[in-house]
Amino acid sequence: MKQMLVLGLESSCDDCSAAVVEESLNGPQIHSLIRTSQDWLHGPYGGVVPELAAREHLIQLRPVIGEALRRAGARASDLGRIAVTRGPGLIGCLLTTFSAAKAIAWLLQIPFIGVHHALGHLNAARFSEPNLQFPALVLLASGGHTHLYLARGWTDLTLIMKTRDDAAGETFDKAARMLNLGYPGGSAVDACAQLTSEAAPMFTQPKFRDGAPSWSFSGLKTALKLRVENSPGLSEAGRDDPSVRALCRTINLTIASWLLKPIPGLINAHGAVSLVVSGGVACNSELRAGAASLGKNLGITVAIPEPRLCTDNGAMVAAAGAMLPAGDSPWAENADADLRL
Ligand code: KG4
Ligand code: ZN
Repeated sequence: MKQMLVLGLESSCDDCSAAVVEESLNGPQIHSLIRTSQDWLHGPYGGVVPELAAREHLIQLRPVIGEALRRAGARASDLGRIAVTRGPGLIGCLLTTFSAAKAIAWLLQIPFIGVHHALGHLNAARFSEPNLQFPALVLLASGGHTHLYLARGWTDLTLIMKTRDDAAGETFDKAARMLNLGYPGGSAVDACAQLTSEAAPMFTQPKFRDGAPSWSFSGLKTALKLRVENSPGLSEAGRDDPSVRALCRTINLTIASWLLKPIPGLINAHGAVSLVVSGGVACNSELRAGAASLGKNLGITVAIPEPRLCTDNGAMVAAAGAMLPAGDSPWAENADADLRL
């Protein structure tokens, strides 16, 4: 592929992000990556309020795109294509940026590419591993996803497993809320966990009647709630308290080990030669370390994007958009169905 500048936009939830990425024979390279946080807006509610998020994207989008171009030293007329997340996500948020991207593409008369969110998270790995070998297993763990895909290429994803109930990121967020550690929760629990080497007693891993490899996190949320309720003062103690730190470490260890447990068997079953770990939860220190050592043991390549590329961002969308044919790429109505694009 010859050199091309791609503008990538991502606003499927509460991050408004734009990136200018240069795609060349050597893979993608980030020229700028801008992301504005809405934590101040949603923090008081303890979670993302969809309508507020969409309205805020409307305000943030123009300056965010302008700043991405300015930092890249590029003009709009330098862009070769524009890529934007087409779903899944919060519908109002998606609509805002999707419409803006279509308008910009029409104005500049450049190709427009709608990118599936999961494909974006996979392509975040292209920045560090442009020559990744396939088939690869892709663990996508975020606030809304705890999904495992089989990738046969950068634009070919098939869902093979997903959580039976809650997502890993949501569990982190709820844990932070129970312990009053602030919002967003995953990074707060992770930071607190790293302040100690002590761990509280582990949580019991769920067993599945059908014996199939699987994930479930709703029981963990209940067990955590009971543990916090049965330890007077724990919910108010804050991150300086040794018991809170130890519990956070246990949460980290528990979620990371549960997420990784089915991977070796499925790597074997699908003949995968690589593992990609992406999504916001892939910022987690324990998961990153665990996945890296699992890769060493199995003798496979493990690609974990740098943390700013694990959470939702425009660069991953640009990287995926560079690999897809122009147009609003087709996708299954049911986002959890076969994802081949
Ligand atoms: O991919 P992402 O930015 O947005 C979604 O598509 O959901 O992921 C956000 C999720 C949140 O649940 C957040 O708590 C979690 O990723 N997260 C973490 C860490 N950083 C972010 N979870 C565990 N450890 C972290 N360091
Ligand atoms: Zn995401």
